[in-house]
Amino acid sequence: MKIGIIAALDLEIEKLKNQIIGMTKSETATMKFYEGKISNTDIVAAVAGVGKVNAAACTQTMILKHSPDIIINVGVAGGLAEGLNVGDIVVAESVAEHDMDTTVCGEPLGFISGIELINIPCDENITKLLCISAEKLSGVNVKKGVIASGDQFIHTDAQRARIIDNFHAAAAEMEGASIGHVCYMNGVPFGVLRALSDTADNSAPVSFKTFAEKASHNSIIIIMEFIKIMEETRK
Ligand code: ADE
Repeated sequence: MKIGIIAALDLEIEKLKNQIIGMTKSETATMKFYEGKISNTDIVAAVAGVGKVNAAACTQTMILKHSPDIIINVGVAGGLAEGLNVGDIVVAESVAEHDMDTTVCGEPLGFISGIELINIPCDENITKLLCISAEKLSGVNVKKGVIASGDQFIHTDAQRARIIDNFHAAAAEMEGASIGHVCYMNGVPFGVLRALSDTADNSAPVSFKTFAEKASHNSIIIIMEFIKIMEETRK
């Protein structure tokens, strides 16, 4: 079993990189890939850069050059669902591209031509194991729901309301849906785990700067637990 892990930022994956044994580093099209083992599991971790195009390029490269069996997108997000606070965890049951808009041509908002979907379903087993792993972390709420991605940092009431009303999303970020989109095209099972660095409102820019590192650390603790549980279920 080889697990691919993709983050947008170095800080979102730093703590995981430190756990990789026998690590080799490679670079394709400016993206960095780190391969090795965590415990008995083969790992390829990558830093994609921010946004949907970077994430899509990274996912397709990872699939073609590093052959992961599954891919998990990890990192931080802005919380949208009521009751969620900075530090809480959102695990995607599906992902959507909130900035995909061909409504003027008669398609519903968010419709992704080619795969003909608005919500791309995550792998049910990965999602279940991510939730079980997240629930072991004390002091945080864990919510399963839609994660919406787009090429914008969400920080206004109008942006929040538009994504909540149209996509019923629990969190917003900038990569998960494009990673899911490429995984879906390639038949690679995927999951998305995000820790909230902010609540996607006018406090978001400052909150992100203050809490991104701590939130990222928590999401890596959860990924380490996920790897452990995956190993136990394979025994
Ligand atoms: N990643 C973390 N916080 C975010 C936000 N508010 N909008 C988009 N991506 C994010």
